[in-house]
Amino acid sequence: MTLLTVRRDGEIAVVTLDNPPVNAISEAVRKGLYDLAERLDEDPEVRAVVLVCAGRTFLAGADVREFGQPPVEPHLPDVVDRIEAAEKPWVAAIHGAALGGGFEIAMGCRFRVAVESARVGLPEVTLGVIPGASGTVRTPRLAGVEAAVELVTSGKPLAAAKALDAGLIDAVVSGDLETAAVEFARASLAAEMPLPVSKRPLQPMPDDFWQAARKAAARAGHKAPLRALDSIRFATETSFAAAMAHERETFLDLRASDEAAALRHVFFAERAAPKPAALKGIDPRPVKLVGVIGGGTMGAGIAGACREAGMEIILIERDAEAVARGLDNVAKIFDGAVKRGKLTEKGRAERMAGVRGSTDYADLAQADLVIEAVFEEIGVKRAVFAELGRVCRPDAVLATNTSYLDPRAIAEGLPNPERFIGLHFFSPAHIMKLLEIVPTPETAPEVLATGFALARALNKMPVQAGICEGFIGNRILKRYRAEAEVLVTQGVAISEIDAAMRGYGFRMGPFEAQDLGGLDIAFLQREGARAEGQHVPETLGDILVRAGRKGQKTGGGWYDYAEGDRAALPSPQVAELLAARIVDARELPRPEIAAHLVAAMAAEGAAILEEGIAQRPEDIDLVEVHGYGFPRWKGGPMFASRG
Ligand code: NAI
Repeated sequence: MTLLTVRRDGEIAVVTLDNPPVNAISEAVRKGLYDLAERLDEDPEVRAVVLVCAGRTFLAGADVREFGQPPVEPHLPDVVDRIEAAEKPWVAAIHGAALGGGFEIAMGCRFRVAVESARVGLPEVTLGVIPGASGTVRTPRLAGVEAAVELVTSGKPLAAAKALDAGLIDAVVSGDLETAAVEFARASLAAEMPLPVSKRPLQPMPDDFWQAARKAAARAGHKAPLRALDSIRFATETSFAAAMAHERETFLDLRASDEAAALRHVFFAERAAPKPAALKGIDPRPVKLVGVIGGGTMGAGIAGACREAGMEIILIERDAEAVARGLDNVAKIFDGAVKRGKLTEKGRAERMAGVRGSTDYADLAQADLVIEAVFEEIGVKRAVFAELGRVCRPDAVLATNTSYLDPRAIAEGLPNPERFIGLHFFSPAHIMKLLEIVPTPETAPEVLATGFALARALNKMPVQAGICEGFIGNRILKRYRAEAEVLVTQGVAISEIDAAMRGYGFRMGPFEAQDLGGLDIAFLQREGARAEGQHVPETLGDILVRAGRKGQKTGGGWYDYAEGDRAALPSPQVAELLAARIVDARELPRPEIAAHLVAAMAAEGAAILEEGIAQRPEDIDLVEVHGYGFPRWKGGPMFASRG
């Protein structure tokens, strides 16, 4: 394989880069491009250059293997400058994605053309850094300050048509990309040549623009978007060279930050999660027809998610009325997508046409996969699986969405128990990314592989969990909440604990989150365990529920709420109810509160690892980041508490 090949099409040189799998910008790629720009400038027969990539994408970004390593020459900014300084204009021919350094190289080119399916963007902030090779300096010159701010601070790539509107690319082409790019290059030679991007003028923006942009960038919760904004602003107020030096300095500074390390950690964990090494070579079973039992909160969300991924759905409920309600719940999900402009009316109708309701289990005879999401009661669930055992194909994968029950007990007596597995979705199931996959000792490897394949099809983040109460996520949640209650008994104010966790990066603290979700579900669970004779000490939450305080839905829980208002107000009644349990009057600074609670989560995580419930610490971090609102830029509790 040759990294870079050059062919001639008349006066146009076509440079093809081939660095599988994603044409990452390795040291060899940087050096190769730099040298080629020199060489082609010296070739008198060449008048313009087309840069195109082999394989599935344009240069998709930095080489992830070089992340966190000291930078090696030639540095990317020099490569971009060299391409821009070429006497022969370069045309970037983009398919797949031109991201990060890939888009910066494209900005070094005099022109950018892309196929319709291509995307361009500067996602650096999602890894805790800012673009390091002129992304914050060239983009505002190319597309204007406003578009640059949006692209760089959000990190979200744009599809070709939108990129064209924003001025990030010059043309969207159809047909063969290389041919179209050569034609474009040839035509451009006949017209007036635009200035290189670095030489284009910049529009200064008024103060209130920057203030609004600052507010928006701060919402991300971590530093990189704000620093990216500063970098763009600096670029509008100074020379190109000074702005480049400033950008580079910021990039190197952020690259060494804890936040960037945390975001890289999550990035690598996410890359590894969908394809566990232990399942290599094991084929999942094909899944086209999915049965969902129960059309409530979870069942409808699961049905919606599977349908969205193109599967046909049969939704089983208890009676005709419940079927209608269940189908309505699914329809609401698609209605929401229509409202948000993500789905057309026609698409909605097509989606619903693939969801059939029934009360008859016999309709599941041909299902490839059945996911049970009925009430969290062992008797009800067992009855469901007894039916499924009778009607389903022996190779159909049968799954439970239980939160707390022991999957082994649910599957007891099921014929062909090797096809049984826990698939624990999170609410709302069509939105939340996390999927805990819980095999029993009898689950066959290809059934486990089917769970992971389903997660990939649904665009979810799969994590394998062993069997224990609450699996990984809910077990850690329980410990977190218990530890937060301990702080309350020591005299730390409830509102201080919530504020501390918000300050750490959670959207909500532990108490306000319970008020939103309701305190009664966990209470009923504890009561159930007590009824079975288990010793479950009374929690502070129990005291509140017994006093009728179940959360926002009853007008109060840990806080009071004025009617029709979600603002949490400290509650004199709660203070009174809990007074006897508060033994101290401790004051803790907020960062210490957060550190204490994160350490408690990590301690539970360590126990979970030791028991083999989780396979890797990264898996625990993924569960927390994707299922429980743990701030991504802190890396998850295991990463945050590493030695
Ligand atoms: P839900 O009460 O909203 O829905 C349950 C549905 O199952 C109802 O529509 C009911 O009519 C139906 N159903 C009950 N028995 C049935 C039967 N024998 N045959 C067919 N349909 C039957 O409950 P939700 O919240 O959807 O929970 C379902 C399961 O998902 C439970 O095991 C729960 O622990 C679990 N889960 C719930 C989460 C949540 O946040 N709500 C999160 C993750 C799991």
